Amino acid sequence: MKLVIAATGASGSIYLQRLLEQIDASAHEVHLVLSGHAKQVAKHELDSLKIPKGIIQHAENDLNVPFVSGSARFDAMVIVPCSMATLGRIASGSSDTALLRAADVFLKERRKLILVPRETPWNLIHARNVVTLLEAGAVVLPAIPSFYSRPTSVAEVVDTVVWRILDQIGLPSARAYRWADETTGRRERKKS
Ligand SMILES: Cc1cc2nc3c(=O)[nH]c(=O)nc-3n(C[C@H](O)[C@H](O)[C@H](O)COP(=O)(O)O)c2cc1C
Repeated sequence: MKLVIAATGASGSIYLQRLLEQIDASAHEVHLVLSGHAKQVAKHELDSLKIPKGIIQHAENDLNVPFVSGSARFDAMVIVPCSMATLGRIASGSSDTALLRAADVFLKERRKLILVPRETPWNLIHARNVVTLLEAGAVVLPAIPSFYSRPTSVAEVVDTVVWRILDQIGLPSARAYRWADETTGRRERKKS
C-alpha cells in the first residue's frame, strides 16, 4: 500500500507514535508529514517522536512530493491527531501546504482520507466542518478510546483507537481486540 500519514498540533502525539509502530514500512510505502505545531506538541507530550526506519518524512511546505498530485496513486491518508484548525482548513478547501493539498487531493480523487480529531467539547463551527467533510467523503474517526477490552496501560488505551484507524486503512491488526470474537474478544475479566 501507499500511505500518507500526517500529524497536526492537536494533543495525542502518542496516537501517531503507536500507529507508526504498527505499520510495516518495509511492506508498505509510508510518507510522513508533520505540521510545525505537531512537532511542538509531540516534543511536549513524548519528548521525541520516534520515526521507524523506512518511513519517508517530508516538510509541511514541500510541494515537490508525489501525493500532492492526483496523478500519483495512493491508497489512504490519515491525519492523526487532527487539530480542529486543520480540519477547518480542509473543510474550507484550503490547500496552502503539502499536508492540506494532499488532503484536498484525496477528497477530489475519492481516495480514503481519515481524520482523527482530538478536541472536546466541540463548538458549532467544529460540528459543521465535520459534516462538510463527511459529505465530501472523509472518514472522521475521533480519538475516542473504548474500554471493553479492559486496557491496563496508556498504550493499550491508545491502541483501541489505533486499531480502528488500521481497520479503516485496510491493514487490520492481528492484535486488535474484537468484540465477541472467540479468538481475541473474550479476555478474562481481570481481578482488581
Ligand atoms: C499543548 C497543545 C495542545 C493542543 N491540543 C489541541 C487539541 O487537542 N485539539 C485541537 O484542535 N487543537 C489543539 N491545540 C491547538 C493547535 O495546536 C492550534 O490550533 C494550531 O494552530 C494547529 O495548527 P496545525 O493544525 O497547523 O498543526 C493544542 C495546542 C497546544 C500548544
